[in-house]
Amino acid sequence: MSTVLSASPPLRIGPIALDTPVVLAPMAGITNTAFRRLCREYGAGLYVSEMITTRALVERNATTMRLITHHESEKPRSIQLYGVDPATTEAAVRLLVEEDRADHIDLNFGCPVPKVTRKGGGAALPWKLDLFRDIVTRAARAAGDVPLTVKMRKGIDSDHLTYLDAGRIAEDAGVSAVALHARTAAEFYSGHADWSAIAALKEAVTSVPVLGNGDIWSADDAVRMMAETGCDGVVVGRGCLGRPWLFGDLARALGEPGSAGPEVDATLGFVAQAFRRHAELLVEFFEDEGRGCRDIRKHVAWYFKGYPVGGDTRARLATASSLAEIDEIFATLDMSAPYPGAAAEGQRGRAGTPKRPALPDRWLESRDVDAAESSAIAAAEIENSGG
Ligand SMILES: Cc1cc2nc3c(=O)[nH]c(=O)nc-3n(C[C@H](O)[C@H](O)[C@H](O)COP(=O)(O)O)c2cc1C
Repeated sequence: MSTVLSASPPLRIGPIALDTPVVLAPMAGITNTAFRRLCREYGAGLYVSEMITTRALVERNATTMRLITHHESEKPRSIQLYGVDPATTEAAVRLLVEEDRADHIDLNFGCPVPKVTRKGGGAALPWKLDLFRDIVTRAARAAGDVPLTVKMRKGIDSDHLTYLDAGRIAEDAGVSAVALHARTAAEFYSGHADWSAIAALKEAVTSVPVLGNGDIWSADDAVRMMAETGCDGVVVGRGCLGRPWLFGDLARALGEPGSAGPEVDATLGFVAQAFRRHAELLVEFFEDEGRGCRDIRKHVAWYFKGYPVGGDTRARLATASSLAEIDEIFATLDMSAPYPGAAAEGQRGRAGTPKRPALPDRWLESRDVDAAESSAIAAAEIENSGG
């Protein structure tokens, strides 16, 4: 349990006091209740849902209603919304609050996916200052006592930065924290996050916490980001793929004394056990063993990065359709194989190359939304994406 109410916790997001200033980054297709529960078993902090589209929520789409459901062990319950329309976003926030379905709501303004930015959504949206202000103001008002935060990128590209304006607008609108993935949409996931932008945002936004995000692969990176930027907490995404115990390392490095368990010895046996637990939680989440075992496949390469697990075994794990089959495969491995060091560390997950962002025609010419743009944006709702 990561929340405590102490006199001066390391991070306070509205009424939520976290004894470790660490947030699991929302990741579509990854941070479902199964993965969040697993991460929480190792560490402390705030664990955000994958992105939920506001229109689907307002329409009570069955899959969406399932995605916003938390396990009873998940406290505080945190949900990220993606919206492009002020009224729909407000209605989605109201639904969560009135039905007591969340203790924290985050708004996603960081999605760089072309099909989203092409319509003015995601990371393209904060360029339109009034629209951004309208969405955040109405959402924050509808949230009432439930803290609302925004997560954004630096901007569209290096010539069209939005994060300082957006941070100040969000602060004025009454958000409880702002988080910055320190890349532009054009950078996608390439190169290195520009942590100096997090420091600049921390100077611009002074009344609520500023959370830094981008390229934290280890607890040392998190300590360094906080020291170099002065940010109030860190948001960790790809670094925990295949290593949910990173949240234990982060709690030991950044949390209050006693808030973390002992250091882990990441032998192959330890990693296999975490993988097995993840698969089991996915089976529980989907209420379908085959589906859970299919979903764990995308995690195989991340868990076993650097470990002596051959291509054949990886391929078998990536086609296993039952927990018993996973157990049979594991029985063939030498579980005493030690932690391989550097080979298991570093970058994982999305990378990619810079791309010129797709935008609506003449989007950059003005920071106001005209009528044509307004209807284009209305079509920018999506099924799922990323940030
Ligand atoms: C597979 C994947 C899915 C993502 N989905 C979302 C999302 O739903 N919402 C969001 O705000 N960001 C999303 N992101 C972006 C992350 O939250 C985070 O900002 C980004 O990965 C940078 O942090 P990192 O370097 O710690 O990974 C996604 C990233 C990845 C890799």
